[in-house]
Amino acid sequence: MARNAAKPKKSKTQSFYDRIAEIHNITLKLNGYRKSVSKFLRSLDLKVDENSTVLDAGTGTGLVTLGFYDAGFRPGQTVALDLSEGSLKLARDQFRKDRKTKGKTIVPVQGNVLSLPFEDETFDLVFSCGVLEYVPLDEGLREMHRVLKTSGRLVFIPVKPGFVGSVLEFLYNFKIHPLESVRLSAKRYFNIVGNYNFPTTEPISWSKAIFLLEKK
Ligand SMILES: C[S@@+](CC[C@H](N)C(=O)[O-])C[C@H]1O[C@@H](n2cnc3c(N)ncnc32)[C@H](O)[C@@H]1O
Repeated sequence: MARNAAKPKKSKTQSFYDRIAEIHNITLKLNGYRKSVSKFLRSLDLKVDENSTVLDAGTGTGLVTLGFYDAGFRPGQTVALDLSEGSLKLARDQFRKDRKTKGKTIVPVQGNVLSLPFEDETFDLVFSCGVLEYVPLDEGLREMHRVLKTSGRLVFIPVKPGFVGSVLEFLYNFKIHPLESVRLSAKRYFNIVGNYNFPTTEPISWSKAIFLLEKK
């Protein structure tokens, strides 16, 4: 499956996440992030079975993948890709130890979402949560479109504009994409199946929107 798996050059973002991986992981654990993601994914009919191949693009410490397995999905293989080796190390440890992911085929891969080291049409399902804020939106969506199979789905969870989003933008040094640009760019490559919100009682709702997209 892997294509030109050359080691990417260490960027500012990579060094930043290498440094903050532990604390970032703890913060997300404390605010119920994994549970919120899991509850939302469980509500979707994602048509995942033992033949499915899934990509968590920008997995960080792996919480979206963990939430996905918590939700009861059992794909044949999940690839957890990120720029940050430090984050991937934590993700790998969590996948190994966690009751829901222990023994499952989850492959951590270091790489860049703008040049995914995979052939065209590799994946049935892709997740992208809080990642495309670090890259030009259209390029990121185009690359995810490339590696998805026809009619494959992208669960796209961008940071949304607002007070909490702006605080995170400052702390984590990214750039929020206006939701209108998200819709425009998404429509270029995907059918928008749904545009949802997390329940307002859950902290993730203060900073994230959700788009369910299907490859055209
Ligand atoms: C806010 S964290 C989100 C992590 C995870 N998706 C989650 O929801 O917990 C952003 C992640 O994107 C990764 N990232 C940023 N730019 C990237 C790029 N160009 N390619 C791959 N990963 C990237 C960072 O290393 C970091 O782990």
